[in-house]
Amino acid sequence: MTHSLTLTRPDDWHLHLRDGAMLTGIAPETARDFGRAIIMPNLVPPVVTAAQALAYKARIMAALPEGSKFQPLMTLYLTEKTDPDDLAAAHASGLVTAAKLYPAGATTNSASGVQNFVKVQPVLERMAAIGMPMCVHGEVTDADVDIFDREAVFIDRVLDPLRRRVPDLKVVMEHITTAEGAAYAKSDPGKLAATITTHHLMINRNHILSGGLRPHYYCLPVAKRETHRLALLKAATSGNPSYFLGTDSAPHTDDAKESACGCAGIFSATNTMSCLAEVFERAGALDKLEGFTSLFGPKFYGLAPNADHITLTKGAEVEFPSYISTGAGPVTVFNPGIDLHWKVTD
Ligand code: DOR
Ligand code: ZN
Repeated sequence: MTHSLTLTRPDDWHLHLRDGAMLTGIAPETARDFGRAIIMPNLVPPVVTAAQALAYKARIMAALPEGSKFQPLMTLYLTEKTDPDDLAAAHASGLVTAAKLYPAGATTNSASGVQNFVKVQPVLERMAAIGMPMCVHGEVTDADVDIFDREAVFIDRVLDPLRRRVPDLKVVMEHITTAEGAAYAKSDPGKLAATITTHHLMINRNHILSGGLRPHYYCLPVAKRETHRLALLKAATSGNPSYFLGTDSAPHTDDAKESACGCAGIFSATNTMSCLAEVFERAGALDKLEGFTSLFGPKFYGLAPNADHITLTKGAEVEFPSYISTGAGPVTVFNPGIDLHWKVTD
């Protein structure tokens, strides 16, 4: 039996760090285990210009524990007004790694997102020309489409046509939640990939809705039925480089989650590596964990893997705090619902 596992230090290819007191409170949770993370730009107001990304990066660096080597990989929030020159310059200088496309209204702080995808075509063409990846929240927002179908419909109605119009664009389908998403994501290796969250590998919609409403399991895209979770698990543990980790760790204070209109987002930064080791071990795929957490993301983004390593050790049940105290308020940590035995020890 394996009791110790050394991996290239992992990266998180989809992370919400927020700002202000929340940022200060939660940044150390990611910086502890991860080398780098793609930082989502859905602040209020969103990070749409290079100048805003530069200022936000400085605030993140200031929130890191002393001596931390964690590197935030910044993104710009695409709008119908994004200036292709500003975006290209931010990419060329190394300040910005990718741009994020939110359909307007799809999720938390996405009001400035894109309504008419044809309007962003010139920006996407520029991104394709300079090799800048687009990260996309892949859900339609149409009120007549059932929330459980919004990802599959997005692929057919929006993403596939968009990729045909801009065939050289590198696209990351963020936080896929369906068998359809997993199937599409592997259809164009090197051009198309998907991130998968920790929680979508561990929960299905019953966890949210059965035996009482569990706001801390509510996120977007919402977890689907068990067959979809199994498809995601198969994808993540397959060793196919088209799938890599993006936790979508998205803190909201408990007040904001436990409300008549609760916010979407699951905070998993604190225990993600422990959860994933458990999930991969149960799937008989511990040997595929490093690819998923540490190798396939950098490969897709054209970066080298981290040079250092982490070690996970298996032992008695590992306890994590149920919440992290921040200056903005308490933030509940993802409860995986199963006992965890792997701990990052080095
Ligand atoms: O659950 C989510 N929370 N999904 C998103 O797409 C956004 C995120 C957030 O910012 O809270
Ligand atoms: Zn997200």
